[in-house]
Amino acid sequence: MSDYVQFINGIKRKTGIDLALYKEAQMKRRLTSLYEKKGFGNFVDFLSALEKDRDLMNEFLDRMTINVSEFYRNGKRWEVLQNKIFPLLLQSNKRLKIWSAACSTGEEPYSLAMVLSHHLPLSQINILATDLDENVLQKAKLGLYPERSLAEVPKPIQAKYFNQEEQFYKVKDEIKRTVTFKKHNLLKDNYESNFDLIVCRNVMIYFTEEAKDQIYANFSKSLRSGGILFVGSTEQIFNPARYDFEVEDTFFYRKK
Ligand SMILES: C[S@@+](CC[C@H](N)C(=O)[O-])C[C@H]1O[C@@H](n2cnc3c(N)ncnc32)[C@H](O)[C@@H]1O
Repeated sequence: MSDYVQFINGIKRKTGIDLALYKEAQMKRRLTSLYEKKGFGNFVDFLSALEKDRDLMNEFLDRMTINVSEFYRNGKRWEVLQNKIFPLLLQSNKRLKIWSAACSTGEEPYSLAMVLSHHLPLSQINILATDLDENVLQKAKLGLYPERSLAEVPKPIQAKYFNQEEQFYKVKDEIKRTVTFKKHNLLKDNYESNFDLIVCRNVMIYFTEEAKDQIYANFSKSLRSGGILFVGSTEQIFNPARYDFEVEDTFFYRKK
């Protein structure tokens, strides 16, 4: 058994995370640079240190989950969401069930609430936001961001929903109240059903084809008929019909 395979088995035992479902070359490169920086010579020594050292385990989790995010990421897609997709969904249902899957530090679910507030009062907005990584969920709940994260936020929205605190911007409580954060592993945990909208962006790129196939199939089951999956701007689905999806717009898929 190679030392990377032993490492994968150990991490799965300890955390439930299956690294075999992430693209190997990319993951190995990121983790090798971390263990070398920490002075280890191979994956097996790194694993025994991780089993004993909680801080090192957190650093490992931070390295394996790439957490970069921003508000209104790929702004043009958010205009389509606001002007086409939400009006379409609201035709059949005024209480939308929405999931931001792999939400990282919260920019994505908070953007969803801000965009949807053009159509509904905040009191009627409820968004489930999940991620594998508890550290990012803590940051998401805090809701404090550097200015560069807000680059794509329309100015009136920035003025309405953020308070400036020195060089940071804090999301107002009225927006925070619309989002419920929970830990969830897309590769292992059960999926809720009957969603009108699932947003899952910039995480599928890290997974193997086998893992992606499973996740798309799960998303399809989780959406109601006519519900929408919104994916990242490098993440077109190669064969949407396989999952009962039709293209609604670029990077938006409608469940049949
Ligand atoms: C690059 S961020 C994407 C954030 C946001 N969706 C966006 O597009 O800006 C990727 C996120 O995926 C999360 N992630 C990685 N593997 C996951 C898994 N198996 N289940 C749930 N989340 C996962 C990471 O913790 C990280 O926060």
